[in-house]
Amino acid sequence: MTESQQKPRLLSGDTPTGRLHLGHWVGSVENRVKMQDKYDCYFLIANIQAFTTRMDKPAEVHQNVMEVMMDYLAVGIDPKRSTIFLQSEIPAIAEMTVFFSMLAPYARVMRNPTIKDEIRDKGLGENYPFGFLLYPISQAADILVFQSQVVPVGEDQIPHLELTREVARRFNQLYCGVDSHTEDADYVKQGGLFPIVETLLGRTKRLVGINGPGADGNLMKMSKSLNNAIFLSDDADTIKKKIMAMYTDPKRLKATDKGSVENNPLWIFHDTFNPDTEWVQATKERYRAGDIGDVECKRKLIDVLEAFIGPIRERRLQFEHDLHQVKTLLQEGTAKANVVANKTLLLAKEAMKQRYF
Ligand code: TRP
Repeated sequence: MTESQQKPRLLSGDTPTGRLHLGHWVGSVENRVKMQDKYDCYFLIANIQAFTTRMDKPAEVHQNVMEVMMDYLAVGIDPKRSTIFLQSEIPAIAEMTVFFSMLAPYARVMRNPTIKDEIRDKGLGENYPFGFLLYPISQAADILVFQSQVVPVGEDQIPHLELTREVARRFNQLYCGVDSHTEDADYVKQGGLFPIVETLLGRTKRLVGINGPGADGNLMKMSKSLNNAIFLSDDADTIKKKIMAMYTDPKRLKATDKGSVENNPLWIFHDTFNPDTEWVQATKERYRAGDIGDVECKRKLIDVLEAFIGPIRERRLQFEHDLHQVKTLLQEGTAKANVVANKTLLLAKEAMKQRYF
């Protein structure tokens, strides 16, 4: 057994809807970068999933695949240690999606809170395509065709991982003879093909955006489509402008007013990104007491974010100037991923007694 086979397998990925932002970082990407030595890591760019709501914008999806790939490389996902690949070029995922779609009851697929949130937030009404409802099953295939054990994701992905577990249990029970009373951790030991995945949540499960609350009065999560994101590739001037204009405590009109640090993106961001926790605690007290202005706290946050994003932006620039290399790395990762996925597909077909030739 090679060393990489002994490491537990980890898989995660992103739908290429745009460049990655700070919400992606604290929700999942940070964990992925950290896990590269301990796990055999697979990261997918889910371009078919992007088509579920952007089938009419193919050029944009193409561009965003490249953007996400450059973001991955810039943040430190290392193609020498980890396999980065493209969803649409892994035929085994599509094949397993069809088989898995038989293992998830229709009503179960419809009872997915993330799907409901997306229909509401993206204003899809009743006009979403059939394939949109299929994507959580396709996501189960993404995960299971690599026999992944751990999946680092943001909180919104929890329902999809629960569905992935249900599909894996059912497959293992129906086709591998695993008893239905088996503990999740024991499925593979009992002869199951698919591990029952563990969710690894980020340190901040849901980062808020910079624009304040939505119609329900709650702060909205950071999201490109809500136009409230700070991207990992934003230039220094953009970061400055965004932070200077960011929502804070609306009741505070001048620096001597007492400020609230709760539900205040300025302080949520300091808590999340400022390594100088002593400064944060002390300055929060001054803010509460009306002893320091928003602008000074924002200036500090600009420095903190620039210190974090600056080096990422620099690395990204090198890749932006060598798109050929970016594509080659994605192609090589995809070739490696296909070897693993095709192997699992054969085993799955064998288990389902659908291997004839
Ligand atoms: N649904 C995820 C997102 O939009 C992307 C994704 C697709 C994914 N397949 C996955 C994440 C498999 C983890 C595992 O962010």
